[in-house]
Amino acid sequence: MRANLTPKLLLLAGAACGLSTPALAKTGAPAPWLDRKLSAEARADALVRAMTTEEKMQIVRTWFPPMASGKPGAPDDLIPSAGEMVGVPRLGIPTLRESDASLGVANQVEQRKGDTATALPASLATAASFDPEVAYAGGAMIGAEARAKRFNVLLAGGVNLTRDPWGGRDFEYLGEDPLLAGIMDGAHIRGVQSNHIVSTIKHFAFNAQETGRMIVDARLDWSALHESDLLAFKLGIEGGHPGSVMCAYNVVNGDWACENKTLLTSILRDQWGYKGWVMSDWGAVHSTVKAANAGLDQDSGAELDKEDYFRDRLNAAVAKGDVPKARFDAMVRNVLTGVIETGLYDDPVAITNQPIDTDAHARVAQKAAEEGIVLLRNAGNMLPLAATAKRIVIIGGHADVGVLSGGGSSQVRSIGGVPVEIPLKSGPAASFARITWHNSSPMRAVQALNPGAQVSYVDGTDPTAAAAAAKSADLVLVFATQWRTEAEDITTLALPDNQDALIEAVAAANPRTAVVIESGGPVLMPWLDKVPAVLAAWYPGQRGGEAIANILFGKVNPSGRLPITFPAAERQAPRPQPVGLAEIAHDDAASNAGSAGGEAKGFAAEYPEGADVGYRWYARKGQRPLFPFGFGLSYTKFTYANLKVSGGAALTVSFDVTNAGQRSGADVPQLYVTPPTGGAVARLGGFQRIELQPGETRHVTLSAERRTMAKWDEAAKGWYLAAGSYRAAIGHDAVDRSLSGAATLAEQRFKP
Ligand code: BGC
Repeated sequence: MRANLTPKLLLLAGAACGLSTPALAKTGAPAPWLDRKLSAEARADALVRAMTTEEKMQIVRTWFPPMASGKPGAPDDLIPSAGEMVGVPRLGIPTLRESDASLGVANQVEQRKGDTATALPASLATAASFDPEVAYAGGAMIGAEARAKRFNVLLAGGVNLTRDPWGGRDFEYLGEDPLLAGIMDGAHIRGVQSNHIVSTIKHFAFNAQETGRMIVDARLDWSALHESDLLAFKLGIEGGHPGSVMCAYNVVNGDWACENKTLLTSILRDQWGYKGWVMSDWGAVHSTVKAANAGLDQDSGAELDKEDYFRDRLNAAVAKGDVPKARFDAMVRNVLTGVIETGLYDDPVAITNQPIDTDAHARVAQKAAEEGIVLLRNAGNMLPLAATAKRIVIIGGHADVGVLSGGGSSQVRSIGGVPVEIPLKSGPAASFARITWHNSSPMRAVQALNPGAQVSYVDGTDPTAAAAAAKSADLVLVFATQWRTEAEDITTLALPDNQDALIEAVAAANPRTAVVIESGGPVLMPWLDKVPAVLAAWYPGQRGGEAIANILFGKVNPSGRLPITFPAAERQAPRPQPVGLAEIAHDDAASNAGSAGGEAKGFAAEYPEGADVGYRWYARKGQRPLFPFGFGLSYTKFTYANLKVSGGAALTVSFDVTNAGQRSGADVPQLYVTPPTGGAVARLGGFQRIELQPGETRHVTLSAERRTMAKWDEAAKGWYLAAGSYRAAIGHDAVDRSLSGAATLAEQRFKP
C-alpha cells in the first residue's frame, strides 16, 4: 500500500505533475475536496460544484489515442494506449491515462515501440492457484508498472464467468465458478489499486462469448444471473472496491449492457450501492439519452462510436432536460469518486516514467505460473523427472524459444522480447492481435536444470520425423499449443495443426513422453491413455519456461487446480458450439465493429444451464468430464478426516488435512454445499490453499459463503435461504466427496 501523502507533499506532487495548486475556497480555507476527513463522494460532489459545464464534459468521455490524433479538441500528448480523459488541473483532477489490463501493462501490436512490461500468466492460471495472495501480488505488480509508465487507470479485473469451454477470452477470466472468480478478482483489483491507481472490473455483464460479441443478446432470467455471473461481479467489487466498472459490448435481456438500466442502476447502484463510475467498453455505446439515463457515466474511446454520443449531443440533451442536470452531475461525481476513493486524487502519478524492479516483478510472474500449472496425469509417477536423462528431446510449440500468449487487448509485449510473432490474415481480431510468444524458453530452462544432458528440439510439424527423433531419447517433452484471442471464439476444442497425431506418434515411439499443454482453456485429449504425464500450463507468462521446467523436474511441487471443467467431448457442454456462428460469418467485421460498423442484426443466445454454470451443468446432466473443476495432482498425497459440520445461521465445517506423502506441497481442500431444495446440485461454498510438510496435519475451518446456498428473490430484490438440512462435502475436486455431512440452517433473508 502506498503511504498517504501529507497535504504538503500533495502540493509538491501536484506541482511535480504539472498541476496548478488545487484551489483554495474563497474564504481562504482549504477547499472541501481537499478535506480527507470527508467521504470520497462528498469531496467529489464539492468538485462538481466548482466545475464549469465545459470541464464536466471533459470527464464523461475519453479519447481513443490511435484514432484521436488531429481530431478537434484532442490533446497533443496522448500516450498510445486504450484511452485518455483530460483532467482539470486547476482543481487537481488528474488526466486519466488508461491501459489494459489484467496480465500486465499491455502494448498490443506494439503501439508504443520498445515499451515492454512484465507478463503474468493467463488469469485462468492465476485462478488455478486458488490463492488470493497470488492474485493480489499480480495486481500489485501490474499496478506498480502502470504507475511507473504514467498510467493511472488499468482496465483490469475481467471476471466474466466461463460458460463455454471455447470462449476466446476464457484465458483472461477466472474460470467458471462465481465464488472462486469473485474472490480472485477482488484480490487482483485490490493489488492493482494498492498503487493508488484505478482498476476496473469488467465486462459488466454476461459477456459470455466473443462470437458476435457486439450484437449478441445474452438472455437469462435475472435471478439466475444474480446466482451466477452477477455474483462473481459482486464478490469482486466487495473484495477489490474497483474505482470503475466497465459495461460490456453485448445486449443483456434486450438492452445493450451500456444502456441497460436494470444492470447499471437498479442492480449496481440501488441494490449494491456502488459509488465509482461506469465506463463503457470501447465502441459499446449506442445512444446519448438512453445510455446516460440508464447509468453510463463515461463513454470510452469515443472515436470508436458511430456518433460522438457524449459530447455535443450530451450537452444538448442536458440543456434540453432530456438528461436531467442532476444526472449529468452524478456522472461526473461518480468518476471523481472513483478517482478519490482509490487514492489517485491525493497521490497523482509522476509526469515522467519511473524505474521498475523488473527482476522482482519477473519473480511474481514465475510464482503465479508455478502455482497455477495443473498436473493432470502422472501415471506410474513419471514425474517429477530425475535429472539423469542423457538425451532429452523437446518437440513442438516453439518451446526452443518461448511460451505462447493469448491475444487481444490484454497482450503484453514482455520483457525479453518476442521470439515468434505471427500476424493474422483475417477475422475480427486481425487488426489488433498477433499470435505472440514470450521469450521464456522451456528448452533453455530444461537445459539449465540438466547441464550434462544433450537437449535438442524438433518443431513437430512432421509427426513421423518427430517420432523418429523421440525414439532413442531418454525423455521426450511435447509442447502442445492452442491459441485464443479476444474477439473470436475457437470453434473446436481439438488441438489444432495436427498436434493430436503428433502426440500419438511420439508417444507410440517412446513411452517416456510427457505432454505440456499451453492453452487458454480446455482441450480434448484423445491420446490421454497413451501419455503417462500431462501438465496444463495455460499461457504461462514471461517466466513460463522456467516454471514448467521447475515443475517437471520437481523443484516445485505442482499445486494448481482446474478453475474450469475439461469436457470429454464438445457435446457435453451446454451448447454444442458458440451461438450465432450460423448467423454471422466468423470473419464478419460486424462481430467486432461496434456501432461504428453499423447496427448489424443481432441474435439471441439462450443459456439452458441457468445458474448451473460449468461443473454444475455436468453434474445436473450426469456427464463425466475428462477432468472436473477443482482437479489437480501433486507429487505428494493429501488425505482428509474428522469432518464436523455445524449449522444455525452459518454452515461451518472443520476437518483435518494431512500430507500423507514424502514431499512438502500445497493442497486446496474444497467445500461443496448442496441446499435441500429439489434438483439442487452441489457448488463450491469455500476453499483454502494450504502448504503442508510431509506428515503434517492441519485443522481447517471453512464457512460456506451464504450466497452460494441461497436463491435470489427477484420480487424482494434480495437473497432467500430456505430452512432445512444442507449437505456439506469436502473434496479434492467437484466430483470427489472424501468427507460429507449435513447441518440444518435457519431460514434467512438478506440484502445483496
Ligand atoms: C475490450 C476491453 C478493453 C478495451 C480497451 C475492448 O475491445 O473488450 O476489455 O479494455 O477494448 O482496449
